[in-house]
Amino acid sequence: MNAIPVGILGTGKYVPEQVLTNKDLEQMVETNDEWIVTRTGIKERRIAASDEATSDLAFKAAEQAIANAGLTVDDIDLIIVATVTPDMSFPSTACLVQARLGAKCPAFDLSAACSGFIYSLVTGNGLIQSGLYKRILVIGAETLSRITDYTDRNTCILFGDGAGAVVIGEVPAGRGFQSFEIGADGTGGELLKVSGGGSRKPASAETVANKEHSIYMAGNEVFKFAVRIMGNAAESAIEKAGLTKADIDLLVPHQANIRIIQSSLNRLELSEDKAMINLDKYGNMSAASIPVALAEAVEQGRVKEGDKLCLVGFGGGLTWGATVIVW
Ligand code: COA
Repeated sequence: MNAIPVGILGTGKYVPEQVLTNKDLEQMVETNDEWIVTRTGIKERRIAASDEATSDLAFKAAEQAIANAGLTVDDIDLIIVATVTPDMSFPSTACLVQARLGAKCPAFDLSAACSGFIYSLVTGNGLIQSGLYKRILVIGAETLSRITDYTDRNTCILFGDGAGAVVIGEVPAGRGFQSFEIGADGTGGELLKVSGGGSRKPASAETVANKEHSIYMAGNEVFKFAVRIMGNAAESAIEKAGLTKADIDLLVPHQANIRIIQSSLNRLELSEDKAMINLDKYGNMSAASIPVALAEAVEQGRVKEGDKLCLVGFGGGLTWGATVIVW
């Protein structure tokens, strides 16, 4: 696929200190720990401090990824931040991170909800193939707690805050990204959205009263879509890479619901120990889920040179994406 072999040179992550447990949520909405654990697998999630915004989380993950790659900020040619919770409409969160890092390179945000990190890898890989850039910092960062309605038990149990980052660049032949699969179905946009605050419905007393600045989700519909698309996207990426399901050493899935991950594992005929799962600690961090899971897999020594990884996610848009990497 790639004329220039491109892969991940370093990983980093940051999650806020404050923990919101299922027990805490029991005090806030009509729910219980047992329901949340059996239906989602989530036990706790992290919540950004009142003075922390998405760029603060992104900056910390980015610093770690650059150091982990053995590089300095001056080696970075471009910054892409995947997020649906930017600090503000503009400047982009990527520009805010660029300033904090003291980088001089171009920077932009990419909006593809929970698939944003995979979409950003596709974009970064393509820009390196074109010869425009050599090393790109790709960050997935979210403060979903800022767009979560903590009176809505259908959604508030699911989401958390965090950031993950990677630096991508040239790697030895035979390694790096082997395939990509991304897709979108805008006809499903209504199933998962924040409708207020944009040009269609600018912020007003009415949008605030209607809670239109918080996530709306048709849970069952999204669940059915997720189960179907995670398997399809992963299988397609594996096939495009010229591999079979049995070749995959580690699946790094979007961390939305343990039952969605289990169904992907069934479809790929992989055992649970072949998946990186950390949603019990963090819940769904949208664009940050996959890079945080990847950074933790690396930290825990679960990824060895030559291993074949499949990263796969889905989200609002509706969107989806998968990639196969030889580490
Ligand atoms: N605590 C207790 N009960 C709850 C609850 C909660 N937090 N949330 C919903 N319920 C209730 C419902 O009201 C419903 O009660 P009813 O039968 O009396 O109406 C019952 O539990 C079952 O609800 P249902 O929505 O069918 O549960 P579910 O098994 O589909 O699980 C989700 C709900 C949200 C966990 C599941 O649909 C899901 O994970 N969807 C995908 C979400 C996702 O991935 N979003 C992010 C995309 S990036």
